[in-house]
Amino acid sequence: MSNKILDIKNLNAFYQNHQILHDVTLNFFSNKATAIMGPSGCGKTTFIRCINRMHELDPKAKVTGEIILHNQNTLDMDSILVRRKIGMVFQRANPFPTMSIYDNVLAGYKLNGIKKSRDEKDEIVQDSLEKAGLWHEVKDFLHRKGTLLSGGQQQRLCIARSLAMKTEILLLDEPTSALDPYATANIEELIEELKKDVTIIIVTHNMSQAARVTDYTAFLYEGKLIEFGETEKLFTVPKHKMTEEYLAGRFG
Ligand SMILES: Nc1ncnc2c1ncn2[C@@H]1O[C@H](COP(=O)(O)OP(=O)(O)O)[C@@H](O)[C@H]1O
Ligand SMILES: [Mg+2]
Repeated sequence: MSNKILDIKNLNAFYQNHQILHDVTLNFFSNKATAIMGPSGCGKTTFIRCINRMHELDPKAKVTGEIILHNQNTLDMDSILVRRKIGMVFQRANPFPTMSIYDNVLAGYKLNGIKKSRDEKDEIVQDSLEKAGLWHEVKDFLHRKGTLLSGGQQQRLCIARSLAMKTEILLLDEPTSALDPYATANIEELIEELKKDVTIIIVTHNMSQAARVTDYTAFLYEGKLIEFGETEKLFTVPKHKMTEEYLAGRFG
């Protein structure tokens, strides 16, 4: 049996008077990949933005419930600390445009005002880029701008940036939706490798991707968790009629 790392209890998210997430309760397991799947607009991005404490940045937004990491409700913790432990990579990767590849990997340290020696920095950069599967492609031009990389490389650079902060959980929001099949396959293979170091939560509306790369799947519909379980079981013997219909392509 796997270890729980993140325990979500009765999570509700609102935007003004509109409720986006309804009483979502589920847990995530250490060193596993979990897919958040569901039709467009069902609340997938909102869900992971809540986990990363981004949703609340909008003054019109509100979150209630609990997101427990190591016996602490992250909603009561310092949000900067939460974002260090739980990193997020967005649908369109966003390396800092003025920074080199090298400095992009270290951006979290800079933002947090953490000083490191040159040797330590070199080591963090190499280690993070290796884990993100990017080192061999960029090691000879680390001082070029991160934005000069291809879309798939930029995704991996942003993953390296999170890994550099020793993130425990990595949230990926449709990381391959803008990538070609080759770059997509690269990211999918990387997810398997990354699980050695981190727990992965990946939003996707690509069912075959969820089936290929994840251990667990959560199916959301209209802001409600319809079904959660082992990916293989959920895809072969779904418990709910709605999951079955979604998998059969009858909606969404
Ligand atoms: N900043 C926002 N302001 C108003 N409504 C929002 C905002 N963000 C998301 N929503 C609404 O919340 C719902 C869920 O959106 P989202 O989490 O982006 O879904 P998904 O990622 O599954 O496509 C949608 O109805 C969307 O219109
Ligand atoms: Mg989304």
